[in-house]
Amino acid sequence: MDLKELAVNALSQNKKTAFLIGGAGVAVLGLGLGYKYLLKPEKVVRVGVVSQLLIHPLKSGKGVSVALAECHKMGLKFGELQDRHWLLVTEDGHMVTGRQQPRLVLVSLTCEGVQVCLNGPNMEELRFPVDQPDNNVINCRVFGADIQGRDCGDEVSHWLTRYLAAETTFRLVHFEPQMRPRKPIDLEPLFSQSEQVAYPDVGPVMLLSEASVKNLSSKLDKDVTAERFRPNIIISDCEAFDEDSWEEIQIGGVRLQRVMSCGRCIFTTVDPETGIISRKEPLETLKSYRLCEPSEKHIYKSAPLFGQLHTVKKTGILQVGDVVYKISR
Ligand SMILES: *[C@@H]1O[C@H](CO)[C@@H](O)[C@H](O)[C@H]1NC(C)=O
Repeated sequence: MDLKELAVNALSQNKKTAFLIGGAGVAVLGLGLGYKYLLKPEKVVRVGVVSQLLIHPLKSGKGVSVALAECHKMGLKFGELQDRHWLLVTEDGHMVTGRQQPRLVLVSLTCEGVQVCLNGPNMEELRFPVDQPDNNVINCRVFGADIQGRDCGDEVSHWLTRYLAAETTFRLVHFEPQMRPRKPIDLEPLFSQSEQVAYPDVGPVMLLSEASVKNLSSKLDKDVTAERFRPNIIISDCEAFDEDSWEEIQIGGVRLQRVMSCGRCIFTTVDPETGIISRKEPLETLKSYRLCEPSEKHIYKSAPLFGQLHTVKKTGILQVGDVVYKISR
């Protein structure tokens, strides 16, 4: 998306209004070419500020903090780094995440030009091209759904297998634009039929406030950071759990729609600094005060809620420092 397009988008966004054509009150204008609309403007309230943007190019890998990101239908992107577009798999294509391999959270995947840079504790940096069109496409399984990925090569496979020091061989795959995405609705009926993602658990964008993290930390022996919960957009300048009530928000030219809360699992017990899984905190504390309403038990079951999953109604650029507006009508 170029800047001109962005500016035009921002302009049209501001002018976006809901039109209600009053049945009997339709008035013919001028030569009878137009209708007079009953305008129902949106209510716009400032609710916070973007304090951090995180992209997790490698599923379960280290988050990459960026000052600016493109917000696409399928999630955040910065240069070649697109959120959850690389995936660790077994040789037969089954996804491997931090739930099985907690040390994966210490692996960083970044890009320099058209090269991917892979780094990990006590490992030499490995570089390889983003596009390797001659490599095999692997048929993968991600949360019960079939999805493809381009194999990143033997050297990458050896590097990751050596780093994780496991008995089995791992491979890395990359989701390419021409491949068929997964549908969040296949896992969560609250998503609309048109939504598509590559390798995230469910939705394209996860949002969390600093205040919610602080609230949780105040109940723990040891503070946790937002990074542990792997959000894409971190919001400051609001109260704890305010984000739960933001059904629709505007950030810069980007319009986001809340779909559901993020139900939390054992992965939250992996320390992002050490890659050690405790299997206890902060999940147990979250369960003590963040379980869903009984009426939503069929959706979230016993998973505590922390952070909100959004879809992208309008794409654009997000920047740290952008004001977050809640939209209501
Ligand atoms: C944490 O959030 C809860 C709401 O779930 C609130 O009742 C409590 O006062 C908050 N605690 C702190 C320390 O902010």
